[in-house]
Amino acid sequence: MSHTPSVWPIHSIRHQFLGLRRLQDHQPVAFFDGPAGSQVPECVVKSVASYLRYTNCNRGAAFETAKWSDSILDGAHQALADFVGADDPSCISFGANMTSLTLALSRALGKLWKPGDEIIVTRLDHDANVTPWVLAAQDAGVTVHHVELNPDQATLDLDDFRKKLSDRTKLVAIGMASNATGTVNPVREMTRLAHDAGALVFVDAVHYAPHGRISVNELGCDFLACSAYKFFGPHVGVLWGRRELLESIRPYKLRPSPDYLPGKWMTGTQCHEGIAGAAAAVNYLASIDVLLDDNSGHEDRSRSAKLDRVFSRIMEYERTLTLAFLSGLRDVPGIRIWGITSVDQIDQRVPTFSMTFPNRTPRQAAEWLARQGLYVWNGNHYALPFTESVGLEPGGTLRAGALHYNTIEEIQRLCGALKEMQSSPVVP
Ligand SMILES: Cc1ncc(COP(=O)(O)O)c(C=O)c1O
Repeated sequence: MSHTPSVWPIHSIRHQFLGLRRLQDHQPVAFFDGPAGSQVPECVVKSVASYLRYTNCNRGAAFETAKWSDSILDGAHQALADFVGADDPSCISFGANMTSLTLALSRALGKLWKPGDEIIVTRLDHDANVTPWVLAAQDAGVTVHHVELNPDQATLDLDDFRKKLSDRTKLVAIGMASNATGTVNPVREMTRLAHDAGALVFVDAVHYAPHGRISVNELGCDFLACSAYKFFGPHVGVLWGRRELLESIRPYKLRPSPDYLPGKWMTGTQCHEGIAGAAAAVNYLASIDVLLDDNSGHEDRSRSAKLDRVFSRIMEYERTLTLAFLSGLRDVPGIRIWGITSVDQIDQRVPTFSMTFPNRTPRQAAEWLARQGLYVWNGNHYALPFTESVGLEPGGTLRAGALHYNTIEEIQRLCGALKEMQSSPVVP
């Protein structure tokens, strides 16, 4: 019996992802590796190939292919502005990945700090939203505070945050969702508190981006970064910033490259085919709107409105996936889930689950599952501040993450396999 809600167009969605058709030992593979990088729909693959095939060119030349290329790349700034809920496409910068963009921004922002200033990072963040700021703080002689965790649930201790915030705080760097535990942080509230104290706010939305609608206007943050390869696109990073900040801060850059937006923060020649693919990923997400059963009667057919509707349905569907995880994992002998497990709080998490077992390492468990065509991750997932603070180094956790293309049946299969694993002897 299928438990997949008929309202979510799962078959039409999965049909577009050829990667999901992989078989191993005549059995379908189930991809739970989305937190490390999602699968990609055919329209994104085609847009990358088409860019390279027909419009491959550097920026700004006088001839035909360059004009096509420029219009695709300009369109991508608009697509990503729509994706993060921003008004101004020139406030979108592309780069190699979120880490490189954050290192570049931290180095530039750090030049404005002086001894006596402070910054705040958290124990729940990916290291890409911690170490770039710590390094810039070291260079500037600035104090770094770390927001501690409520370890039971892997949520941020907001009282600790309030205590550490002061009029000396120059920057608060927070994640929208943890790539280790799936916790969704109260970014809007934290941003308001930080702004009241006079600090800038940088948000890492890399893990959140495939799961929920982002609106920089609603969050009120000053900078936000994400990575297209986590939301069904190619390996490209994206940075949004407030225009006045991007214009006033001086990046480390070459002399002939533009001093104006959007080129100012984009060092060197970009991965044009990847940028074309990132825009295609946004268009893919917006295109889910036509598959929704309540699609008729909407007046607003803009891409932003489609993204609003699609993400509200993705969140609804992913809640059912989270519930399937919670009920299936409960029966796995000896398992420890690192994160929110209460059904009442499922709105504070996405379906990304970190777990450990008393009798085998995360790597052993991942290998056991891989042999059965269940693709999960093990290790610290670069969420080192978390694994260190809860004593999970060096092994880290076993991490299974679901996206809107995963099914409840896949989750049941994974939970069944984990149960079987726990009743089998450990093979070293
Ligand atoms: C939450 C989070 N932040 C930042 C990053 C780093 O992103 P990138 O690989 O684009 O540098 C990742 C990558 O896994 C992530 O999950």
